[in-house]
Order: sequence, then structure tokens, then C-alpha cells
Amino acid sequence: MYKVLHKKINNRKAKVGIIGLGYVGLPLAIEFAKAGFITYGIDINKKQIEKLKKGRSYIMDVLSSDIAKLLKSKAFRPTTSYSVIKSLDVIIICVPTPLSKTKEPDISYILSAVKSIMQHKRSGQLIVLESTTYPGTTDEIVLPLLESNGLKCGKDFYLAFSPERVDPANKVYKTKDIPKIVGGINRSSGILARDLYKSVVKDVFLVSSTKTAEMAKLLENTFRSVNIALVNEIALMCNKLGLDVWETIDAAGSKPFGFIPFYPGPGIGGHCIPLDPIYLAWKARLHGFEAKFIDLADRINSGMPEYVVSRIIGILNEKKKTVMDAKVHVIGISYKRDVSDTRESPALEILRLLKNKGADISYSDPYTKECIVEGRRLRAVEPTPRMLKQRDCVAIITDHSAYNYGSIVKNSKLVFDTRNATKNILKKGRRVIKL
Ligand SMILES: NC(=O)c1ccc[n+]([C@@H]2O[C@H](COP(=O)([O-])OP(=O)(O)OC[C@H]3O[C@@H](n4cnc5c(N)ncnc54)[C@H](O)[C@@H]3O)[C@@H](O)[C@H]2O)c1
Repeated sequence: MYKVLHKKINNRKAKVGIIGLGYVGLPLAIEFAKAGFITYGIDINKKQIEKLKKGRSYIMDVLSSDIAKLLKSKAFRPTTSYSVIKSLDVIIICVPTPLSKTKEPDISYILSAVKSIMQHKRSGQLIVLESTTYPGTTDEIVLPLLESNGLKCGKDFYLAFSPERVDPANKVYKTKDIPKIVGGINRSSGILARDLYKSVVKDVFLVSSTKTAEMAKLLENTFRSVNIALVNEIALMCNKLGLDVWETIDAAGSKPFGFIPFYPGPGIGGHCIPLDPIYLAWKARLHGFEAKFIDLADRINSGMPEYVVSRIIGILNEKKKTVMDAKVHVIGISYKRDVSDTRESPALEILRLLKNKGADISYSDPYTKECIVEGRRLRAVEPTPRMLKQRDCVAIITDHSAYNYGSIVKNSKLVFDTRNATKNILKKGRRVIKL
């Protein structure tokens, strides 16, 4: 059975199914289809599947023309039905892994996907979990579920973990350019998964266990969270000392070794950096270990929106304005530049805090036409010179490249720049205050 599956994977005759066609799953499904695998995309969201069936993408990094071409050649087959599982050789799970209200890992999407797979599973399949999760999810939770009907891993089916490392909007490193880490429940599972990914990405790094692969992903994102927190704290320090944090980082970055520049900002967002370290800290706590760096980084990063609002209030006060009778406009509400994703975005928290303090709020974002702030629907407005002139303060929260920051500075009474988007704008005078 192993040899048959291995051969099918190596000569790209294996039928692949990707479960969960979001930011991670859709680009991955397209890569497999482009590599010549017949690829099924399974998602419970009917609207998304309808769009895909019409050849329309809803993820900025995936071209509609690619989807249309792959639909035509029948290489890509989107569906809401799990019944296709029985015809597949490889099943890859890319469902969300959010936090619960009490800030604990919520792996219910993984469990639900695995239970649905169980209803249609047959022997001889390779199953790979890609959703970011705490060490032990694959071997302690997913494996027993998959073996609950008597099938044995390594004999009747194969199971591996391979974390997704995609960076939305990254023009240099797309899904196929980012090396994959793979860990199998046993050696045969690891090798099958390694050879599968070799067909679609440039490099594969095989580790000794699923737990190591899970841990490696959490190390990467904890590294980012901690370094962003450090530089956020340095930004707060620089402000107290009357220094420009951005110039300081550029200067330190001139050292060709031993320093990696990270940049401060209004807080962290998206489905990864704010959540993943919490998954790790939770698992460590179960083993009586307190993850101090993770906790501190979380506190510093989550405090940034409040700090940004306090700075906005401060600069308004200097102009003899109170936040209560100020019109404050936010530029960019996605969690980072040039993406449409607003999950966990600090901009939404900043808008909420400003509204609660009585400010008259508005926002511009080329990718998000409306958002909800404290139950009220807010519609995006264009940052036209006329509109900007009417605001008391314009806060640059996400520096989308679609905007002309020279025009924003020129037409605004006061700009608070949390991203150094105004770096190269001359003659800004005292109108621009930076984080
Ligand atoms: N977004 C990123 O940049 C990124 C990067 C690396 C890793 N990850 C990780 O990848 C995983 C997926 O994240 P995402 O951003 O793609 O999420 P997403 O919300 O964009 O997409 C998830 C998709 O799964 C579907 N889904 C949910 N339950 C399902 C089920 N039972 N069966 C079939 N489909 C189901 C949803 O409808 C949705 O389309 C998460 O674990 C995340 O931490 C995300």
C-alpha cells in the first residue's frame, strides 16, 4: 500500500484534497493543481465555493485567471461535499485555529474536519495537518481519532504535520518559494509527505516527529512576536527620550551581523502572530512551565492600540483640542500593508477606543469597504484633500501602498504616523508626529 501511494505521489497521479480554502488552503490548492495533481478543494462555505466554481478568486494572492484555467482543465475541483474524500489519495487540512473567548486554543475546526474525513475515509491515504497548532495536536488528538475505527497509522493510512508558512502579499516569497517543514507520525508518513511537498515547493525539511514540526512553526511566530514587542518597547522608550525610533533602527541595522531589524507599529494582527504564541504558552502551562517571554510580548503588543490613542489625545491637546470634539481619521484598517485581512487588526481596536472617548471617527482602506465599530457600521471614505482638511487628526495605522502619503501630509492638519510611511516626505514641518 505504501509503495502504491508513494508511486502515485512521485508521478503526480495522486488525487489531492485540500480542506479549508482560505488564505492558506486556496493558494496551496492552486499550487498542487498547477503541478499536475488533480486537486479537490473542500470548504463548508457555500458562497466561497460558488465563487471558485465561477473562476473568481477571493484571496488577493490568487489570480482569478489561474482558477479559471485550472477549472477548465479540471485540475482544480472546488466542492462543499466531503463525499469526494473516498476517492482521494492525499488529504491536507487547512482550517482555522483561533483562540476561545478565554484566550485558549480552539481546535474545534480541526476536530470537525477530521470527523467529517472519518465518515468517508478509506485505507491507503496520506493525511496532513497544516493548521498552526500546539505541539501534540497531531499525535495526541488527531491520530487517536483517525485510528478509532480500527485502521492503523503506518499500515492502513499515513499521518503527518506540515506547518503553513505563507506570508500574504509577499511578492518575493509565494507558497512555492517557501521551504516546507514536515514531520510524520512514523518514518513512512514523513517520507510520503516530504515527497508530496517536493512536487510543489522548492525545498522540504523533514524532522523526526509531528511535535517538532508543530513546535518549529510556533518558534518562528513567537520569535516575531517577541522581537516586535521588544522594538515596540524601544519605541516607547525613544519617545520618552525624545529620539526617533525609526532612525535608531536604521542605524542599528547598518551592522552586517548580529542584528535583525524589526519595526514598531500600532500593535499586531492577523490570524498568526497574536495567536500562535498563546497556543504554545497554553501547552507549556499544561506541563507546569510558564512562558514568560510570550506573556510579556503579548502584554506589550496588546497595549499598543491604547498607547497610540493616548498619543493621539496628547497631540490633539497640544493643539488645544480635546478628543471629545475632535474628528479623527484612520488610514488603513487591515492588519498589515496591502492585504484585505482585518482579523485581530489593531486598527479596529484603535477606532473602538477613539469612539468610546467621544471622537468623531472615520477611515480609509482600499480593501475594506465597511467595518463594525461598537455595533455601528462605518463605511470607508476616500482620503481626498477636501475630506482630510476637515479632520483634526489623521492617524496612519496601516501603510497601504495604494495611498499617496505626500498628499495625505499636505492636506491634513495633523498626522500621527505609526508606520514611518511619511519617511521620505520633505517639508513635513510640525504637522507629522511619528510613533
Ligand atoms: N493567514 C495566514 O497568513 C496564515 C499563515 C500561516 C499559517 N496559517 C494557519 O493556517 C490555518 C488556516 O488559516 P487561514 O488564514 O487560511 O484561515 P481562513 O479563515 O482564511 O480559511 C479557513 C477556511 O476553512 C474553512 N473551514 C472551516 N471549517 C471547515 C471544515 N470543517 N471543513 C471545510 N472547510 C472548513 C473556512 O470556511 C475557510 O474558508 C490556521 O491554522 C492558521 O493559523 C495562516
